[in-house]
Amino acid sequence: MNQRNEDLMRPHGRDLTEQELITVATQIASVPELWTECVSHDPEHRTYEQLFRDEHLDVWLLCWSRDHDTGFHDHDLSAGAVAVAHGSGREERLVLGRSVDEPIARIATAGSQFSFGAADIHRVLHAGEGPAVTIHAYSPPLTRMGSYRSSRPGSCAATRSPMRRSCASWTWPRAETSPRAPRRGNDRWEGPSPGGPFHYLS
Ligand SMILES: [Fe+2]
Repeated sequence: MNQRNEDLMRPHGRDLTEQELITVATQIASVPELWTECVSHDPEHRTYEQLFRDEHLDVWLLCWSRDHDTGFHDHDLSAGAVAVAHGSGREERLVLGRSVDEPIARIATAGSQFSFGAADIHRVLHAGEGPAVTIHAYSPPLTRMGSYRSSRPGSCAATRSPMRRSCASWTWPRAETSPRAPRRGNDRWEGPSPGGPFHYLS
């Protein structure tokens, strides 16, 4: 989508707010010619491809099929927004004072979107019958994500660290920070996507 980067309505020279990320993700989701060639559904694993990345903005396309699930994760320092381009997804978000078995949840259908801050912990799952395609925008660009596992079923996520966080970080060689160097792959690990070269920090 590089030839259309200039057409993207977005601020420059600073990180984007959640509302601005929604605007970016929605713009891209509404123009299928920007990403149709990147769509690739794999029943075994969700697939992803980076559409754009610069100093302040990181945009990915994800493809989902039945039972695909990111697991609970955070985005380290990045806020984000998801626009559903095709099909449906379900977001479950942990909130203070509620059991990890009782997250707040929403179904996002084609044409809808949701956002999250850097402090939020959520999971995204495929929903509905057919495959789904979602556009994810992050700012600042993703460099690290945390993946959570509950050590006690039903325990509260807000207190006494019942959730264990493992962390994966990405390294971005200088040449690959260019928006002309998309990354792609599918999830072979149990943490969240997007992925790429990573190593566990803990
Ligand atoms: Fe996420």
